[in-house]
Amino acid sequence: MDKPKILIIDDDPVVRDVLSQIVDSLGFCSDIAVDGVEGLRKLNNTKYDLIFTDLNMPKMDGLEFLREVKSISPLTPVAIITGYPTLEDAVDAIREGAKDFITKPFKSEQIKTTIERLLRERMLLRGISSGGNAVSVNELYKEVVKRLEEIAILQSVSTELDELYDNNEIYERIVFMASRLLTANEVCFGILSNGYLRIKSATGKTKKEIPIAGSVLEKVIKDKEYHVIPSGETNPFTETKLKTELLLIPLVTNNEVFGLLSITNKIEAVNFTEDEIYLAITFGKKVSLRIENNTLYEIFYTTLINTLKSLVVSIEARDSYTMHHSERVTNYALQICDVMKLSKEEKEIIQFGGYLHDIGKIGVKDTVLLKPSRLTEEEMDEIKRHPIIGESIIRPLRMFTSEKDLILMHHERIDGNGYPLGLTGDKIPLLVKILTVADTYDAMTSTRPYRAALSHAAAIKELQRCSGTQFDPEVVKAFLQTPVGRGGYYEIQEK
Ligand SMILES: [Fe+2]
Repeated sequence: MDKPKILIIDDDPVVRDVLSQIVDSLGFCSDIAVDGVEGLRKLNNTKYDLIFTDLNMPKMDGLEFLREVKSISPLTPVAIITGYPTLEDAVDAIREGAKDFITKPFKSEQIKTTIERLLRERMLLRGISSGGNAVSVNELYKEVVKRLEEIAILQSVSTELDELYDNNEIYERIVFMASRLLTANEVCFGILSNGYLRIKSATGKTKKEIPIAGSVLEKVIKDKEYHVIPSGETNPFTETKLKTELLLIPLVTNNEVFGLLSITNKIEAVNFTEDEIYLAITFGKKVSLRIENNTLYEIFYTTLINTLKSLVVSIEARDSYTMHHSERVTNYALQICDVMKLSKEEKEIIQFGGYLHDIGKIGVKDTVLLKPSRLTEEEMDEIKRHPIIGESIIRPLRMFTSEKDLILMHHERIDGNGYPLGLTGDKIPLLVKILTVADTYDAMTSTRPYRAALSHAAAIKELQRCSGTQFDPEVVKAFLQTPVGRGGYYEIQEK
């Protein structure tokens, strides 16, 4: 029988060479093409049993090529090989009919598994199309169901993880999902730090940190490969005897192991099946990608918040009357949160949104913003655009829903006479109502170019007068119990 023919398409000659060497060394026959166009030409003249293609290539990219292959030779399996995959790439490729998705740098073992699996599927498919028997149909059906299940699980994993932004929440979710996916009761997730694996989340008991040197973890980290500890041996996470196998999965970004996932105490079985190990490895890859993206996002997020804050500080600094306004407003609002016993998360929203609530003033002309006399109606209208401008600045950052409300709605009134939306009380979130009281109090007690500052007593009287029309009475009541509401001062924190 002829050796199975495998076509390799990549514009990178190094990848082409390495892959074709692996393919040949495994006893198959490799052929190469530099891009999708050449690949199609070859496909028209030769029958291949399997194709590996890169995703990003000149002339014709991997997805386009995939579509063409499906019309010329629908039974030829195609596996995608790519350097910097995104989840969207993977989902697109699978939708277009790719049978596997391999990320560079790949290992010969991985290529072998993929080739074997895809050739087995192809054989079964061919058997069926040429009037195959019930056994092959049944086997293929099982293969397909398995693949579908895997894809469904991995897609739900991706969707679930993509909805989380807080790393700690992601860690907890990872442990929960791994335990569900592999039907195991003890799952640990840890991150490497200064020679230790520090456990970030776990089901069941575990040590808080494990020294890496000399332990089995050291080998996994060095080899960047999964490892199975047999039952009966010692569990490195608890120092107890293992009742079932323990599977260690390294989590890798930029070719470095940054964390480990440990799975043991299987329900209804002692050993992991090959499929479960494959699933755990794929799960580990998804998880690594998500954590890497999230960490990048967190860095980006913090940098962005700091940039936005300094932007606000610089807007306020142009005008000595509004200097430190947002800082004071945030502080007053946080004091109200304390009186109303709001959660840490709610206070964090105030912390960000409070500083940024007037960010839209960037879009208001200096001549209006810094005008030393009373504003005309037209100028007032221009100022009134700042909540909408602010919201549009923050909108692209989809994690900011509550903060966005603070920016968009902080000039709304509970009687519906505010701007820009004219919302009434029940439509205005509590945090916005809190910020509104804090904002108005600070505006009243600050000197404006065209009027002197109101005294504390006069400002409080005004808040009480407008309680129930402009402001939420509960919030006004809470403000009166805060240190500043009782006449205290807030020290500006000079940085
Ligand atoms: Fe404002």
